[in-house]
Amino acid sequence: MRADTAAAYVIRGARLAGGEVTDLLLRDGIVAERGTGLSGGEVVDAAGLLALPGLVDLHTHLRQPGREDAETVESGSRAAALGGYTAVCAMANTDPVADTAGVVEQVYRLGREAGLVDVQPIGAVTVGLAGERLAELGAMADSAARVRIFSDDGHCVSDPALMRRALEYVKAFDGVVAQHAEEPRLTAGAQMNEGEVSARLGLAGWPAAAEEAVIARDALLAGHVGSRLHVCHVSTAGSVEILRWAKGKGIRVTAEVTPHHLLLTDELASSYDPVFKVNPPLRTAEDVQALREGLADGTIDCVATDHAPHTAEDKECEWAYARPGMLGLETALGVVAKAMVETGLLDWAGVVDRMSTAPARIAGLDGHGGDLRVGAPANLVLVDPRSPWTVEPHGLASLSVNTPYTGLELPARVVATFLRGTPTVLEGKAQW
Ligand code: DOR
Ligand code: ZN
Repeated sequence: MRADTAAAYVIRGARLAGGEVTDLLLRDGIVAERGTGLSGGEVVDAAGLLALPGLVDLHTHLRQPGREDAETVESGSRAAALGGYTAVCAMANTDPVADTAGVVEQVYRLGREAGLVDVQPIGAVTVGLAGERLAELGAMADSAARVRIFSDDGHCVSDPALMRRALEYVKAFDGVVAQHAEEPRLTAGAQMNEGEVSARLGLAGWPAAAEEAVIARDALLAGHVGSRLHVCHVSTAGSVEILRWAKGKGIRVTAEVTPHHLLLTDELASSYDPVFKVNPPLRTAEDVQALREGLADGTIDCVATDHAPHTAEDKECEWAYARPGMLGLETALGVVAKAMVETGLLDWAGVVDRMSTAPARIAGLDGHGGDLRVGAPANLVLVDPRSPWTVEPHGLASLSVNTPYTGLELPARVVATFLRGTPTVLEGKAQW
């Protein structure tokens, strides 16, 4: 565990998302003072930098236990800190699956030991992600990890009766079921988005309807039982329309979109490079535009990375055999700046809402996602919005290298990240 007797820091002349330029004194883990001409700590020159609440990721695959060759809680925490995150929610599709209090407590403890971001475990909905019977949801909620989000991500809870029961069960402790929306009967053997490109390449298609049908069904179920539903990695224009309808009806549904679905399209599959294979698959330019608009108008609540590290063995092979998934933690902010800020669809206050405030609220994470007011926990990130950098897979902290952005220039860079007043990243450099 990192020492938490942090020195004090004066962040000098940073711009808050709302536009105000101020100094921030970080001491004893909180924002101790705000104003101009502050002293009392090591000075960090933040002229020209944005000071934002630390980012929060609702959807991170940390791979531990079981695939420590692809990522560990510690290496994933490093990637997260470098990406500007102060909290991540760790997906349950580990080996063993996080479907008991014992496993979620193990992940929680590993996160505490790494000490670089708050690692909040997600619990599986069904035993072994098999979709047959409910896991010990109550025991995971009562455990030291205090699990509130449950997901079989990687798999869809496709049985509607089981999904209904899960939604009813989590209501007792204000939990939420995060659904990987994919009707498996419609995606058997699928390799990429079903459309013109799949027809041209001769690869089996994953139709938009396989996602949209499950979102519509689950929204109706959530409305019927009055529970909270969260939809993982929304990827189609039709899904945005269904979410808009469900929210209009007052159904308690939230949704996330990944950075890659905001930037990349299925045309990339024509390279047959499995680095572009992901689930749900990259879609069309029209879908990308609808997702951007849905995120801008709040129909989609937040950005979540779906950071999915895979080893070379699992990824550098023939397209059909490659595992789906891409790295995301270290590039998310830059990709969102490119897709949403440079296009004028979101300002930085909007980015704060979609990458920090909204995900913290959905996950129920106290101490994250709030304003940087005096007395608040000093979880924050300093961003240089005008410092382009080029993605280089071996320059990333993840144990895996499956980034789809190799060689791409991103417009914004993380300069520093503070977790409860202690820098995990300073002047762009790791502090471990
Ligand atoms: O592309 C994906 N990879 N989608 C998922 O739902 C699971 C994830 C993984 O675990 O690799
Ligand atoms: Zn998923």
